[in-house]
Amino acid sequence: MDDLHPKEVVRRGYDAVSYHYRRDDADDGQYAPWIARLSSCVPARADILDLGCGCGVPVARSLARAGHAVTGVDFSAVQVRRARNLVPEATFIQADATGAAFPAASFDAIVCLYMFIHLPLDEQPPLFARIAIWLRPGGWLLVTTGHGAWTGSEPDWLGSGATMWWSHVDSATYRAWISTAGFGVVSDEFVPEGAGGHTLFWAKRR
Ligand SMILES: C[S@@+](CC[C@H](N)C(=O)[O-])C[C@H]1O[C@@H](n2cnc3c(N)ncnc32)[C@H](O)[C@@H]1O
Repeated sequence: MDDLHPKEVVRRGYDAVSYHYRRDDADDGQYAPWIARLSSCVPARADILDLGCGCGVPVARSLARAGHAVTGVDFSAVQVRRARNLVPEATFIQADATGAAFPAASFDAIVCLYMFIHLPLDEQPPLFARIAIWLRPGGWLLVTTGHGAWTGSEPDWLGSGATMWWSHVDSATYRAWISTAGFGVVSDEFVPEGAGGHTLFWAKRR
């Protein structure tokens, strides 16, 4: 990783790995039941923020097709360029999620899948607090986190030639962070991946 800041490793990594990670025509896959549940929880034409939206497929694409007003944020130029092409009906902003700014109570739901695990640990609790401010009371947060605690990197991730970096705590700590930020945790589930996995939390803004 040389002397690069870990977030710069992640940003450059996703520029390189974008097409290895998700094809343009990927289907909803494991996200399908999550997208369907979220759509049933929010009003028609809801305002939904997708933080760390990647190439917009499948989450922003499916939520926009369901009639919701979707805003995606991602700091990878390649991911955002693809998202703007693949989901022209949504709005995409190229920015670091931890520096993004929205008025209070802007969204009915915020989706953040497989992004928190790429943030330095000291930046994670403050982002949960900002997410809580951006949500309307009763709004939904759908977020994947680490399941066990680990910080590390992998060279040539997904055969892209790029290094990727992750940092996460265990799911009990994430539950505490999400609760402290002003949410009631409604449910959580283990999402297996390879030899490990992630935790998917459904949380409601108090
Ligand atoms: C594993 S991908 C997941 C993409 C999408 N959420 C999905 O589940 O298909 C993680 C995404 O988060 C973005 N990301 C990571 N750290 C970020 C940050 N600090 N600010 C904005 N985007 C970030 C990456 O560029 C990448 O597109």
